[in-house]
Amino acid sequence: MATPTNQVFIAVIGAGGVGKSFLSQLAALAARKPTPKLSLCYISSSKKAAFNSEYSIGIETALQELASSSKQPLSLPQLADHLAAAPAKAVLVDNTSSQDVADAYPLFLSRGISVVTPNKKAFSGSYKLWQDIFTAAATAGSKVYHESSVGAGLPVISTLKDLVDTGDEVTKIEGVFSGTMSFLFNSFAPVEGSGGQWSAEVKKAKELGYTEPDPRDDLNGLDVARKLTILARLAGLPVESPTSFPVQSLIPKELESVSSGDEFLEKLPGFDSQMEETKSAAEKQGKVVRFVGSIDMTSKSVKVGLEMFDKSHPIAALKGSDNIISFYTKRYGSNPLIIQGAGAGGDVTAMGVTSDLIKVLSQIA
Ligand SMILES: NC(=O)c1ccc[n+]([C@@H]2O[C@H](COP(=O)([O-])OP(=O)(O)OC[C@H]3O[C@@H](n4cnc5c(N)ncnc54)[C@H](OP(=O)(O)O)[C@@H]3O)[C@@H](O)[C@H]2O)c1
Repeated sequence: MATPTNQVFIAVIGAGGVGKSFLSQLAALAARKPTPKLSLCYISSSKKAAFNSEYSIGIETALQELASSSKQPLSLPQLADHLAAAPAKAVLVDNTSSQDVADAYPLFLSRGISVVTPNKKAFSGSYKLWQDIFTAAATAGSKVYHESSVGAGLPVISTLKDLVDTGDEVTKIEGVFSGTMSFLFNSFAPVEGSGGQWSAEVKKAKELGYTEPDPRDDLNGLDVARKLTILARLAGLPVESPTSFPVQSLIPKELESVSSGDEFLEKLPGFDSQMEETKSAAEKQGKVVRFVGSIDMTSKSVKVGLEMFDKSHPIAALKGSDNIISFYTKRYGSNPLIIQGAGAGGDVTAMGVTSDLIKVLSQIA
C-alpha cells in the first residue's frame, strides 16, 4: 500500500456519548484539513471492534461498521502491535473510563503511539502510573494530552500548563469541578430564594440525568478528588492518589452500604436535617454553601468538601450545572484568572479531545 508520509492513523476506543461526538468532529476535521490525511484505522466498544489489514475505516460509517462487526476487540498489547505496525504514525483516542486502558498508556506511548483522552483514570491513579506515562512519552517522543479530564472542554489543563511553563507562580486553585454538585447546590442553596429539600434535589438531579445511575458515585466526592489530583500534580505537588487528602463525602454513614441507588434515594429524606443545618448555618452569615475543591500551593494542601461563600462570590453565583475554576497566581494578584462554563456533555467534552488531537498532529505530522 503506497502511503503518503503526511498521514496519521487514528484508533478510537469507546463509542459512547463522547466517542460519538468525537467521531463527528473528526469527520469535520478530516474534511476541513486535508493534510495530514487523517485515517481512522480502529474503533471499539467493550464488546466489539472494527479494523482491517488496510488500516482503513470510513469515519462517517464507523459506527455502522462497529455495529455490524463480528470481531472482538484486540487485547491492548495486540492493539499496540497493530498500531506500531501501521504505515505511518498513530494516535490512540481513549474515550472510555476504563482503568485497564489507562494502565496501558505507557505501553502505547513507548511504542511511539500518541494518546489523547478525556479519561481521568490514568492521571489521577497512582503517582507511579503518572510518572510512567510521562517518562514513556519523553523517551519515545510520543505525545499525551488530556484536556477533557478536568472541566470537559473548558481550557483548564492547557491554561494551568501555560501558567506554569511561562514561570508564573500558582498560589491557589479553587473551584466547582462537578456538574452534578454544581446543579445540586445551585438549586438546594440558591443565592436568591430558599431552594428545595436536599433529598428532593438529589432525586430531581437523577431524573434529569445529571447524576450517575447510583447518585452515591457523585456524592462520595471521588470524581472531584480525581480532578484535583490531576491539577495538583500539574501545578507541581506530587499527590500520591485521590484518597491521600481530605475528601468530604455527602453520603450519610448509615446509607453507605445500602444495596442500591434506589434504596439510597428512598432513605435519603430521613437525613435531610443534616444538610438543612449546614445550609442555615451559612445563611446566618449571609452566605451560601457549595461543594468545592481547592489546592493551596503554599501549605501544599489539597481538599474537597463543603465551604461557605459570600453571595457575591463568583462560586456562589454559578448557574445550572456549570463548572468554575479560579487560578490565583503571582501575576494575576488578588483577582484570579477564572474559567467558567459547561463542564459536561458529549459535544463540549469531545471538543477538548479534538483540540488535543490537533495539538498532537501539529507536532508529529
Ligand atoms: N460525558 C461527559 O460529559 C464527560 C465529561 C468529561 C469527561 N468525560 C469522560 O469521557 C469518557 C467517556 O465518557 P462517556 O460519557 O462517553 O461514557 P459512555 O457513554 O459510558 O461510553 C463509554 C464507551 O467506552 C466503552 N468502553 C468502556 N470500557 C471499555 C474497554 N475496556 N474497552 C473498550 N471500550 C470500552 C463503552 O463500551 P460499551 O458500550 O460496550 O460498554 C462505551 O462505548 C469517560 O472517561 C468520562 O469520564 C465525560
